[in-house]
Amino acid sequence: MSETGVGTEASDMLRRRMVADLRDRGAIVSEEVEAAFLAVPRHLFAPEVPAREVYAASEAVFVKYNSAGRLVSSISAPWLQARMLEAAKVSAGMTVLEVGSGGCNAALLAELVGDKGSVTSVDIDPDITARARTFLDKAGYARVHVQQADGARPLPGAPVRGFDRIIVTVGAADLVTAWVDQLAADGRLVVPLRFRGLSRTIAFARRDDHLRSDTLIRSGFVSIQGDSAHAPRSVRVAGRDVRLVVDENQEADADALTEAFSGPRHERWTGVELGEQEGLLPRLEVWLAGAVAPYGRLRATQEAAERGLVGWVLEQGMPAIWDHSSLAYLTLRSAAHADSGRYELGIISHGPDREHLASRLSDAVARFDREARNEGEPVVRAYRRDNDTVLHGVTIDKPSTRLTIT
Ligand SMILES: C[S@@+](CC[C@H](N)C(=O)[O-])C[C@H]1O[C@@H](n2cnc3c(N)ncnc32)[C@H](O)[C@@H]1O
Repeated sequence: MSETGVGTEASDMLRRRMVADLRDRGAIVSEEVEAAFLAVPRHLFAPEVPAREVYAASEAVFVKYNSAGRLVSSISAPWLQARMLEAAKVSAGMTVLEVGSGGCNAALLAELVGDKGSVTSVDIDPDITARARTFLDKAGYARVHVQQADGARPLPGAPVRGFDRIIVTVGAADLVTAWVDQLAADGRLVVPLRFRGLSRTIAFARRDDHLRSDTLIRSGFVSIQGDSAHAPRSVRVAGRDVRLVVDENQEADADALTEAFSGPRHERWTGVELGEQEGLLPRLEVWLAGAVAPYGRLRATQEAAERGLVGWVLEQGMPAIWDHSSLAYLTLRSAAHADSGRYELGIISHGPDREHLASRLSDAVARFDREARNEGEPVVRAYRRDNDTVLHGVTIDKPSTRLTIT
């Protein structure tokens, strides 16, 4: 046994098993990413945690909490690291910036870029950069540069032609100018982005005057700190039981919506169905964010559901729209004809404009069903705020960027 509590043979076996699992789940698809995962001794980056847990494909390792008890640093789960690395398309010789350290993902990146490439990993927290430095050295990755810095600011000494890849591993609510400016002309930016109560890790490539997404991964990350720290706004509409999660710059009148919510409810069924394994709802959620405004997520506790306060809403929330005095959200029921595993989308709404809001949401769902259902992932485009391209339809305005979704 080594001092980290696991022998070489045992860790090799756990690693091989993890990689097989990641292949089976489709998280690893390329030989390069597979080789990187087989090479990096993951347990050395979390010595306080049993190796069996560190090598579990779906488990993140929680590293640090702040004084308020909030998680501020973790090692992302292997499936998510794998999917992000696949989406980043990192190859030998590249220059890569990782925002948010820990060591483990930087080691995987070091394997992918090889001896001729370079990896710089920055973290705002000196405890984390110290850990990362120690563990990277111990695991044989002294060549990774670790730096303490606010990764949302321009990095002194960044390559003049930009980084080939920028991989952000912390939940951001904006695509900050530094990332866009420091990205090479043919670069790729992978970033966990929060918008309208949703959280998606998005891989972007440059296209003309904007960044265009080609991969969206449903995922959660600890929140970014420093200059671009943000807090999604939670507007209570039935005490602690039911709330609307919106962006900081979205207006929602808590008193008026609470009054609406306590009043009569209107229900409408769309006839649009989805299958359990179809993965349609996550796509619809993102597409709707680019089709209707204002748009956010209605979240409810289990008790709220049991008391009949809300219809069937999923734990992570359901798409919602509102105006000054009324609110409508998506809900589900088992499809009438199906044996199992198929659901129909419906709308529940409250307030004086409940019928109108239900029609708007229902029309948007019908349009998705007609125009976008079979079109794959929605496409997110990010334009700088100072860009003068005229954008049509709904835009999602962030401090430095303006997003459209189609
Ligand atoms: C999920 S962890 C990083 C995981 C890591 N890349 C790994 O190996 O799996 C997110 C990290 O982002 C850091 N962080 C938060 N805000 C930051 C900022 N503005 N700049 C750089 N790092 C930041 C946190 O301190 C935390 O350690």
